[in-house]
Amino acid sequence: MPTREIVVYDDPTLRKKSRRVKNVSDDVQRLIDDMVETMHEANGIGLAAIQVGVPQRVIIVQLPEADEDEPDPNAGRLFAVINPQLARRSRETEEGIEGCLSIPGLVGEVERCCAVTVKGLDRRGKRVRVKAQDLLARVFQHEIDHCDGVLFIDHIDDPEKLYPVTAGEEEAAEAAQEMPIAQVAPGKSAM
Ligand code: CO
Repeated sequence: MPTREIVVYDDPTLRKKSRRVKNVSDDVQRLIDDMVETMHEANGIGLAAIQVGVPQRVIIVQLPEADEDEPDPNAGRLFAVINPQLARRSRETEEGIEGCLSIPGLVGEVERCCAVTVKGLDRRGKRVRVKAQDLLARVFQHEIDHCDGVLFIDHIDDPEKLYPVTAGEEEAAEAAQEMPIAQVAPGKSAM
């Protein structure tokens, strides 16, 4: 399973609207395998196919492994969703820290629905529905946005809600601590 190159900001590819997958072929299986490998290598928690230059509606999401104190059944679990759609979204929203593997060096505070239900196909082509909240819901919303050519920075109109992280994770973590709504260490927020 080779890794693929991640398309970064400025490349117009990221603004493309991805196409629906018509049949879950071997190519799609290979694409998903490569995306998983690529996301792991980049230490990300989510990835959309368009980020490896493939304009098809395929996303993967995997939160970090649970720590023992806070068991979370979704932690560490790998979700691969083909043709993902938001079937439900909570009226309640919250701000949280996001980064993007395609926008290295920046994180920002983005308002998202607290809970969503995602429907689509799993990697075997079977219908799937995932109920997600908090960080998992956030990552799904971020990845589905990618399928429509939307980036997290599009949701931020206040430049003070964008933070550079080029100085390294330590300082980024420090910056995140200053933000009362921060839930995610920037090192684990790239998606
Ligand atoms: Co992203």
